[in-house]
Amino acid sequence: MCGIVGYIGFRSAKDVILRSLKRLEYRGYDSAGVAIVNDGLNVEKKKGYIDSLKVDFDGTLGIGHTRWATHGVPDDKNAHPFLDCGGNIAIVHNGIIENYISLKEELVKKGHKFISDTDSEVVAHLIEEYYRGDFKDAFFRAISRLKGSFAIAAVHRSERKIMAVKHESPLVIGLGDHENFLASDIPAFLEYTKRVIVLKDGEICELTDDFVHVYDFEGNPVSKEVQHIKWSIEDAEKSGYEHFMLKEIFEQPRAVDDTLHALFSRNDLNLDFDRITIVACGTSYHAGLVGKYVIEELLRVPVEVYYASEYRYRPRVVDNALTILITQSGETADTIAAARRDKSSGNITLAITNVVGSSITNYVDKVLYTNAGPEIGVAATKTFTAQLVTLYYFAIESARHRGIISSTTYENLMSSLRKVPHNIENMLVMATQIMKEAEKIRKSKNMFFIGRGLNYPIALEGALKMKEISYIHAEGYPAGELKHGPLALIENNVPVVALIPPDRTYEKILSNVKEVSARDAYVIGISSKDEVSRYVDTLIKVPEGDPFFSPFVNVVVLQLLAYYTAKFLGREIDKPRNLAKSVTVE
Ligand code: M6R
Repeated sequence: MCGIVGYIGFRSAKDVILRSLKRLEYRGYDSAGVAIVNDGLNVEKKKGYIDSLKVDFDGTLGIGHTRWATHGVPDDKNAHPFLDCGGNIAIVHNGIIENYISLKEELVKKGHKFISDTDSEVVAHLIEEYYRGDFKDAFFRAISRLKGSFAIAAVHRSERKIMAVKHESPLVIGLGDHENFLASDIPAFLEYTKRVIVLKDGEICELTDDFVHVYDFEGNPVSKEVQHIKWSIEDAEKSGYEHFMLKEIFEQPRAVDDTLHALFSRNDLNLDFDRITIVACGTSYHAGLVGKYVIEELLRVPVEVYYASEYRYRPRVVDNALTILITQSGETADTIAAARRDKSSGNITLAITNVVGSSITNYVDKVLYTNAGPEIGVAATKTFTAQLVTLYYFAIESARHRGIISSTTYENLMSSLRKVPHNIENMLVMATQIMKEAEKIRKSKNMFFIGRGLNYPIALEGALKMKEISYIHAEGYPAGELKHGPLALIENNVPVVALIPPDRTYEKILSNVKEVSARDAYVIGISSKDEVSRYVDTLIKVPEGDPFFSPFVNVVVLQLLAYYTAKFLGREIDKPRNLAKSVTVE
């Protein structure tokens, strides 16, 4: 997704903007650009990486952008910032201007000349059209004409300020002394300040060296709370790891522990519902599927899980349902749309997200934050296990409130949950063995991941991790389904990763393993039971423990397997092709 930054103050704007843009690289981008105001208004923008920008000008006020193409191919002319005809105004935009075609037609008739194929360029011309010597006024008028989702920052060569707006795309403000910052995400400016204002949808912001004023779209002042960020820039850096993904995999014991501790202090989870709908995308959807098994097992309440992109267009069926929206970024457009729809129709809505003040928090009744810390790698890892622990906690607490489980069962479940960070730690020491397996499978064209019950979604997640970062075609399957079609694809040496916890599906999945072994698959078994080694080509032994909690350790094995496979293949692990960290478009 696009990234926006802005700076006004006393430092080199070029340095601040380029450093801040680098910290937003995780969002994925195909071009980058910078606009700096000094005696004039200078712009440098290019297809490709930030390092390829040749910024031979500087100042103390400017804006920058990384673009993830939606309208118009990734090339130099479609890169941001965009200028108006007079070269006085520069803008950067994240989101989609839905009515840009009609606005463009209107502006072209008035004589404006466009150079790009983007929706965003219209904003610069619209501000120009309304400008009568007052940049702030022109900005307000221009914004009132826009439809769609947008975070926009704009500068004018003759006024020392940045105007910005947030509407359904993220934007945060960093407060300094005689300097201020804006960005799509906090890590962009965290090395300069930890004082942050999180903008809400429908807010416009005026930044000068010495003040930040926030207004609603009508121009009324809005008073904002200043938040103090507790995590440091080191938390958002690689700290000696080769990739963010590896660092984030190894951070899981802490991420799960921090998430659990924050949950322990919640006493507002006794919600009233007869059924639950879980809505999410990608990895968060897989967390939702695990949540379904856990909640149905403990609460005996029906749970349906939907992809947000499907759910939002389904007919509504409302009957005292709780809708749980899971999104690590809190910015996924489809998940937000589902939240808005269900809240407006009377469902109780609960978001599970990792980002404080993210957009989804504006559209739900309740928020449960995962405390995983910033996740930079595009592949979700620690946010996934933090989502899992949140869902387990929610299910266990709800079962206790409803009197469904005895206090002994409750204590046993909580005790197992508390052990999860330690079990993950024990799993991480197996990284070298997992790396050796990755080396064996790295030349494969196809792979299968199989599991049953709670571990079926983990098989799906293992396949997703493998395909998104290694680009090997991988499919996750409920193990019992293989013989209904996919078995036709099993041939000599096709890797099959089988999740084999000692639960009620144990014998069944061993039978499924025999089915694929008989067809010469290369089977990697993941289990706490030694005897599994008799049925598989390689056993990756996970720590013993209650199999109800096996998804936590199993998924760590699969994350590492995907990571090392991608590493052997020389892939861009933290920024896989075509993918972005937060998907703010439909
Ligand atoms: O921010 P979200 O959790 O809503 O993101 C949903 C998916 O885009 C995301 O989980 C994606 O599948 C992962 N990056 C895959 O690793």
